Amino acid sequence: MSSATQNLNDSLTGAAGAAEVAGATDSVMLKLLNVESAYGPIKAIRGVSLQVRKGEIATVLGSNGAGKTTILKTISGIIDPRKGSIEFKGKSITAQDPAIIVQSGLMHVPEGREVFPLLSIRDNLLMGAFTRKDRDGVARDMEAVFNYFPILRERTAQDAGLLSGGQQQMLAISRALMANPDLILLDEPSLGLSPKLTKEIFEIVVRINRERGTTILLVEQNANMALNASDYGYVLENGRIVMEDICARLREKEDIKEFYLGLKEEGVRADRRWKKKKTWR
Ligand SMILES: Nc1ncnc2c1ncn2[C@@H]1O[C@H](COP(=O)(O)OP(=O)(O)OP(=O)(O)O)[C@@H](O)[C@H]1O
Ligand SMILES: [Mg+2]
Repeated sequence: MSSATQNLNDSLTGAAGAAEVAGATDSVMLKLLNVESAYGPIKAIRGVSLQVRKGEIATVLGSNGAGKTTILKTISGIIDPRKGSIEFKGKSITAQDPAIIVQSGLMHVPEGREVFPLLSIRDNLLMGAFTRKDRDGVARDMEAVFNYFPILRERTAQDAGLLSGGQQQMLAISRALMANPDLILLDEPSLGLSPKLTKEIFEIVVRINRERGTTILLVEQNANMALNASDYGYVLENGRIVMEDICARLREKEDIKEFYLGLKEEGVRADRRWKKKKTWR
């Protein structure tokens, strides 16, 4: 690269951006390359490539049926990909046994929470820690979880099935934390929750990331919340990544504002707006 080009790149990315690029390979925690997954004849994701860097919150935005859940299920080994590769902390986990993936430090909080309704809150939490031998560490993490979500401490002996949807989401996130993972996959935490509760849960997800250094890959339809909470974002449509950037820049893109954030330009007639082609098509 010529020094002029280098200078231009530096001024475009800024010092932090250049450093990020230089250190890019060893800071990558999760890497998908050309991943394709299908349900019988239905291809749900096609050629998905993405990276999650250590310590960041990354997000995949997409509407119903875009393939968000399929991406997470493929990473955690619930679905085997037809093509492509997945690396976690520098090692291949492509089509690996889900239990081994969990043990390597990757926890999946599934869509719809899936807590054990007939087990107590405490036992649900302990299920998250079942592979751990360090009793002191488990006790410390239980305390940490109760500090993030005090309602779980108050109701620790109660059956999880009696919790509200939002409280079950808190429990599902907490159960993942009990494994003390390096990476959490979070599938639509906002599903079915009020805007207020969604905001509260996102604030705690950000605190978990900042305070514990847990890396997070979040998939969401709620673009507004996800873009505010995350560092880096991908846009998924019909199983393909159509756009990616740091979230601060994604939030400013007209297409994102119009199609994902519901912000419309003043004075443009509705039919014209909807006929307008997205720039990534
Ligand atoms: N078990 C399944 N069998 C057949 N097709 C499926 C199955 N699960 C998902 N699909 C299809 O795969 C595509 C991607 O689905 P996926 O659940 O990954 O989307 P999503 O982005 O998570 O959507 P949502 O926001 O509604 O949760 C959709 O077309 C869906 O109908
Ligand atoms: Mg889904």
